[in-house]
Amino acid sequence: MVEDSLDSVPGDAATARRPPSTFARDTTVTDTSVYERFDREWPDCWADAAALLEWDEPYDEVLDADDAPFYRWFVGGRLNAAENCIDRHLEAGRKNQVAIRWEGKRGERRTYTYYDLHREVTAVAAALRELGVEADDVVTLYLPTVPELPITMLACARIGALHNVVFAGFAPDALLGRMEQDDSSVLVTCDGYFHEGTAVGQKRKADAALAALESTIPTVVVDRLGADHDTQLGADQYAYSALADRFEGATVPPVSRAATDPLFHIHTSGTTGEPQRMTHATGGYLAGTTWTTRAVFDLSPGDTYWCTADMGWITGHSYVVYGPLARGATVVLTEGSLRYPDRHRPWEVIERNAVNVFYTTPGVVRTFMKWGESFPAAHDRSSLRLLGTVGEPIGPDTWEWFYTHVGEERCPIVDTWWQTETGSILLSTLPGVSEMKPGAVGPPLPGIEARAVDENGRELPPGEPGSLTITKPWPSMITPLESDRYWVLAEYWQQFSDRRADTWQYATGDRAVVDDDGYITIIGRDDDVVTIGNRRLGTAELEAAITAVDGVTEAAAVAGSADGDTDLYVFATAEQDLTGREALRESISDAIVDRIGRFASPAAVVFTPELPETHTGKTMYRVLEGIVDDAPLEDSEPLRNPEIVGELTTLWGRN
Ligand code: PRX
Repeated sequence: MVEDSLDSVPGDAATARRPPSTFARDTTVTDTSVYERFDREWPDCWADAAALLEWDEPYDEVLDADDAPFYRWFVGGRLNAAENCIDRHLEAGRKNQVAIRWEGKRGERRTYTYYDLHREVTAVAAALRELGVEADDVVTLYLPTVPELPITMLACARIGALHNVVFAGFAPDALLGRMEQDDSSVLVTCDGYFHEGTAVGQKRKADAALAALESTIPTVVVDRLGADHDTQLGADQYAYSALADRFEGATVPPVSRAATDPLFHIHTSGTTGEPQRMTHATGGYLAGTTWTTRAVFDLSPGDTYWCTADMGWITGHSYVVYGPLARGATVVLTEGSLRYPDRHRPWEVIERNAVNVFYTTPGVVRTFMKWGESFPAAHDRSSLRLLGTVGEPIGPDTWEWFYTHVGEERCPIVDTWWQTETGSILLSTLPGVSEMKPGAVGPPLPGIEARAVDENGRELPPGEPGSLTITKPWPSMITPLESDRYWVLAEYWQQFSDRRADTWQYATGDRAVVDDDGYITIIGRDDDVVTIGNRRLGTAELEAAITAVDGVTEAAAVAGSADGDTDLYVFATAEQDLTGREALRESISDAIVDRIGRFASPAAVVFTPELPETHTGKTMYRVLEGIVDDAPLEDSEPLRNPEIVGELTTLWGRN
């Protein structure tokens, strides 16, 4: 959460920075008139995004709003996403350009040119067909960061099947629920993977889920552990490599899909809700991700790009696979922890691969900060041109550190706001064009309109925090299946919309404030609220008070009723080791009493080495609430650091 002192106001004009003049950029997005033109020509302006793709059939209409809020984009058009990410680059003379550079956990490296990618994707597409997969069927992928994951995603797209990627760290129950919700035809998994040197079973988890599934489905198993680890294949289970060999050289023409046909499903649970199935449509999603990959990440063919996100989450779909490959870039994929084998790894990846654009989360940057600037300083970072963050607000101090010690003050930083549901970035500065205000995300991108509104959906004046809504549709918005429309309408569209006036506002679930220049600062989730003594408090507000205390690095505030009453509990990480903890506890209590009021004074402050976090760097409040209320979560949570749960339970017990 916000770890910087309140003295530095997020998005303060006083700290605003012009983009470095040395920044090399795509000339199409250097002109600020793009904002005005997109406004004037909306929605036809989005033809610019569609023009970055290759179409089998041109579309008749950019936007069809007849069934609003279930908008349909590029209606009448037909295309194939895999063809756009691979085949057309071969035709454009990029056959031998590297598409994927993979670095495994044990130092292994694999390189795929666009030609190699084409061969393997086609072979896997043929294999999936052989296993009975047809257009519109769903294939569940349960794989860690191995090249076979994007390859299988693209193989699905090639034959018009939908992929449903389930994060490899999920437990069998979570996998089962997601496979059932999607009526999966095939499962693709692996034997296991290495965690800091030890082999972890993946197929075992997959087999447990498969055993509980009502029907038997074919399973494809990637060999990740190598010859030392024997894997037994059961009935209807196939080795990925045997299938890929068998169909090597196959011809599988890409299946032409309507722009409005679904491309994939993905489940999202956020920090509080239940996992729900999201669907993205082929044309709008690909147009949105490709356009933003160009406009925000300034990626052109041949650029090398590294994003630390796992492909199990939307960031990995939009900005590891589809956007960068549609742009013809070289994508670096890294398996495993950034600290293994040591803290030099991230900087070695950048140096070795000459990474131009680096996209990560503020949480990762804070970790780099804790390790210290000597690590990046020991490596050549001259290839870096642009830095980006996503997932949570980046506090001004973290921003400055990233700007100075990683980007050497010559790389703009794009703080990008978006969601699983939005498919692509909606709020961000345009690098090379816009002033950057550390702490504020930036204005809506061209063609996007966002507001902070009150509970009746009325726009609030600058400076007044409210609920963040998006007030115009955008190409990569979720396009729910017929059967999901009911809850999508209720969850996202009905909260702030005035149906008599026929205006639709999409509710993001975030709180935000807009400044006089139209820059938006994200305060936190609307649902990150604790009620103490009948007062509603934003966790962000509490946490800002706590992290302003010298020596505290991160904090999470949760409400719990460990002792009957609802009280506030604080979990914090500290700079120093155990000495001085008692004094720090007191300072935290004092800070809360000072800044918020005595009623909010915490019942306990627990120090922990790390907070439980999602892969996009968000604090997982439900885990902490479960610990306080002595009702630990039973399902496996989508945590970046699941090992912290046991440790927290022990620390809580000692408290
Ligand atoms: O609360 C916002 C936060 O992450 C949420 C979306 O999470 P998810 O669907 O998992 O997608 C994450 C990757 C796009 C948002 O509702 N969020 C995302 N980006 C930012 C952010 N909060 C502040 N600043 C951001 N740049």
